[in-house]
Amino acid sequence: MAHYTPLHQAAADVVARLANVDAADLKVETPPKPAMGDLAVGCFAIAKAQGKNPAAVAQDIATAFQPTGMLASASAAGPFVNFRADRAAALGWTIEHATRGTLVPTELGAGKSITIDYSSPNISKHLAYHHIRSTMIGHSLVQIFRALGYRVIGINHLGDWGKTHGMLVAAWHKWGPIEPLDISVLNDLYVRYREAIKANPALDGEARAYFKKLEAGDAETRALWTRFRDISLAEYQTVYDALGIQFDEIRGESAYEHDIPRVMSELAASKLLTESEGATVVWLDGEKEPVIIKTSDDTTVYATRDLATAEYRWTTYHPARSLYVVDRGQALHFKQVFKVLALMGHADAAKVCEHVPFGLVRIGGKKTGTRTGQVVLLKDVLAEAEQRVRDVIVAGGADLSPEVLASVAPVVGIGAVVFANLASQRERDVDFEWEKVIALTGDSGPYLQYSHARCASIVRKAAKDGLTVAGEVDYRKLGTDAEWAVARRLMDYADVVVRAAAVCEPHLVCHYLLDLAATFSRWYTEGNGDASLRVLCEDAPTRTARLALVGAVQATLASGLGLLGIAAPEQM
Ligand code: ARG
Repeated sequence: MAHYTPLHQAAADVVARLANVDAADLKVETPPKPAMGDLAVGCFAIAKAQGKNPAAVAQDIATAFQPTGMLASASAAGPFVNFRADRAAALGWTIEHATRGTLVPTELGAGKSITIDYSSPNISKHLAYHHIRSTMIGHSLVQIFRALGYRVIGINHLGDWGKTHGMLVAAWHKWGPIEPLDISVLNDLYVRYREAIKANPALDGEARAYFKKLEAGDAETRALWTRFRDISLAEYQTVYDALGIQFDEIRGESAYEHDIPRVMSELAASKLLTESEGATVVWLDGEKEPVIIKTSDDTTVYATRDLATAEYRWTTYHPARSLYVVDRGQALHFKQVFKVLALMGHADAAKVCEHVPFGLVRIGGKKTGTRTGQVVLLKDVLAEAEQRVRDVIVAGGADLSPEVLASVAPVVGIGAVVFANLASQRERDVDFEWEKVIALTGDSGPYLQYSHARCASIVRKAAKDGLTVAGEVDYRKLGTDAEWAVARRLMDYADVVVRAAAVCEPHLVCHYLLDLAATFSRWYTEGNGDASLRVLCEDAPTRTARLALVGAVQATLASGLGLLGIAAPEQM
């Protein structure tokens, strides 16, 4: 395993050299009790490989140990070698890197690209609250991979092609024109047409006929569709702007129109196509239903366009990973698409594809959706969050100017909603409850933002008194266990970000930040009872060193919130 701080690297190097093994194979852990030491390296694997007793191996290493720049002492505890850090050296490295924002290594992703398909809503429908999941999990993954040095291509794969869009055109001809035309009108037309099909199945044929016209390039149909698409995109953009999201590529399903003939001939050449009830399909081993490639109307479907999309992403970006952040309801779809892709001669492209599934959001215990018309709009939730945050801040008696309140309320409201959606493992369902979402204390986004603002206010207060962290800092002044605990959490940051990327789980970052904030708070509140423990204490060198540690925490909280797509205001 890789070691992301020189302290961890030093422990691994010592053991590697003394036991004659590779440092990269060693795991550097934290002993269960601080009294045992700062770092521990287990000797089981070494002992096994060398036919020795683990405790004896640990003892030999501890005996032969000589202090290094980062490590002060070593002792054996059963099969473990426990090390004590040279705290001043480790603190110095950590604080300086945290403050500069260089705790996270950027070599991992250097020279690699990664495509992340996220948000990807279907046009002509509202951007509903549930869209926040793909949108924010994806946005967070974009930030996480970028922090690790990857070239990230964040893609909005708009659902802008298919029978649904034939439905909209059919509805327009039936009940339109309706002006002014906006997303609500489009959404209503869609819901109304779906209802009408139930009573009159012939309308489904009309919708299909219009989609066939669209695919055939009929100018009038196409112009209408373009208008619907433009209106939808402009509407979504306002929400993306509020959330701070910018896609690197907005390329919907319609963009793959011209690739379909090639996809069809590749499928045919690989002898994959058969006919089933008039449709063109691929049968996969062990599956009860075939994968439909073309309908009996000879139009393409979602899967056909995803095959073309996957090829495009592979040939255009050669990604090391190609992620699809889409709800778990589409697991079978992606499994089939990736399989067909491999069978049709694109095994390389298929190998990098990964569906990143997530659970649903329930409002009032119920699943939400656009089909029924019972839809909670994402923009409405964000607006309400802002209003509720404003009320809470005002009720709490915070001393903020109207200007600051106006800028803080939206970002704290958004932070609250976003955090609530990222804080648990992504495959878990999320229950939407205002009380939980908007809580300014406890495990919430606002609590993290507040912790950050508190650091900022300490730094600000010091600066007012002419105190800054400039020049040499004497890190030996940071001696308490509470201070060391804060530094240890800072040292874990890189490892957390690396793991979050590996398993595509932003919630690991959420938990880390909560822990960092709590550790910081424990240190900070120690000063309540004892003036000598305050950050802004009497002794100038100690004050400067503590201020540097506060700055390091502030920078890391801001960085971590940034990875979640949450802003870190300086005041709140
Ligand atoms: N538009 C689809 C939906 O709303 C999601 C698209 C996901 N991306 C993809 N390449 N299939 O369900």
